[in-house]
Amino acid sequence: MTIGWTKKDIRDQSGKVAIVTGGNSGIGYETSLALAENYATVILAVRNMNKGHEAADKIKSEFPNADVHVLKLDLNDLGSVKEFSEEFKMKFRSLSLLINNAGVMMPPKRETKDGFESQFGINYLGHFALTGLLLDLIVKTPDSRVISLGSLAAHNLKPEFGKFIGKKGKTSQMKNYGQSKLACVYFAKELQYRFRSRNIDSKSIACHPGIAQTYLFGKGSRSLKTRLTRASLKIIGQSAESAAYPILYAATESSIRGGEYIGPDGRKGIKGSPTELELLDQQFVDHVSNNLWILSEKLSGVTYKF
Ligand SMILES: NC(=O)c1ccc[n+]([C@@H]2O[C@H](COP(=O)([O-])OP(=O)(O)OC[C@H]3O[C@@H](n4cnc5c(N)ncnc54)[C@H](OP(=O)(O)O)[C@@H]3O)[C@@H](O)[C@H]2O)c1
Repeated sequence: MTIGWTKKDIRDQSGKVAIVTGGNSGIGYETSLALAENYATVILAVRNMNKGHEAADKIKSEFPNADVHVLKLDLNDLGSVKEFSEEFKMKFRSLSLLINNAGVMMPPKRETKDGFESQFGINYLGHFALTGLLLDLIVKTPDSRVISLGSLAAHNLKPEFGKFIGKKGKTSQMKNYGQSKLACVYFAKELQYRFRSRNIDSKSIACHPGIAQTYLFGKGSRSLKTRLTRASLKIIGQSAESAAYPILYAATESSIRGGEYIGPDGRKGIKGSPTELELLDQQFVDHVSNNLWILSEKLSGVTYKF
């Protein structure tokens, strides 16, 4: 455990190449900013190129020597995930950090381009496909890490992945969100198991940011309910910068072994300094994670070649 860890503790990231999905906004932006400040090459993987370039310009205005790139990635579309991975491989020869951060929470009910429940498709399956398509680069890069984003909303949930994977499920959007985030955490653990059992040096780590008032809550909505929710989150939660610390800790700390679940150490995990949580071990069911993996390969059409 590290007491009071902040981004000032990040060691020099020179030579590291990092992809941050959703790096244009909120927690992903703060993660990208801190990695760029510490000399990593950072690729903002974004669905909206204008927003991506605005974020890159903002980072460069703070750190003029920052090495920041913007590439198009729409996790709502597995075709875009494939195109992103091909473009990335044409431009870069290594991948030290894959930060699977992008996400949506409780959007209106809809399906992804490939027909999956949107939170499952964007938060989980798109990232599953992305990681599989970049696996060759990840595996050949020394001390590479894949970071997956969980959430307090996934804590104490039983895995019921089969129920919400299908089209037009009847489950609530909050439940779908929690299950999609639980799937990300299961993926992180299973990926680490697969790395370790093949003696691969790469590491897979899950983390959750606690609660931070970002655009995740009520994106685009100006309703009174959304404004009240966002105002109360500002009071109880932490800044997007602090919420990025679990990711930055998982990505850069030399003590990381792989397989950890990192989150804030404060009351109820809402805010605080990043620390290793035991929760993941208590919740984890081996055969479920293996089944989810097999299903995900089938649904995404991406087979992991270790
Ligand atoms: N904020 C919290 O309290 C909290 C708590 C638990 C977990 N998390 C997790 O933290 C992560 C970051 O969320 P945030 O709070 O920083 O929210 P945010 O500010 O809304 O950022 C979400 C990012 O994901 C991107 N994104 C959404 N759909 C995408 C798609 N189809 N393809 C590519 N990118 C897409 C968004 O792009 P656009 O800007 O173009 O929309 C944005 O860059 C999410 O995984 C979320 O589940 C957040």
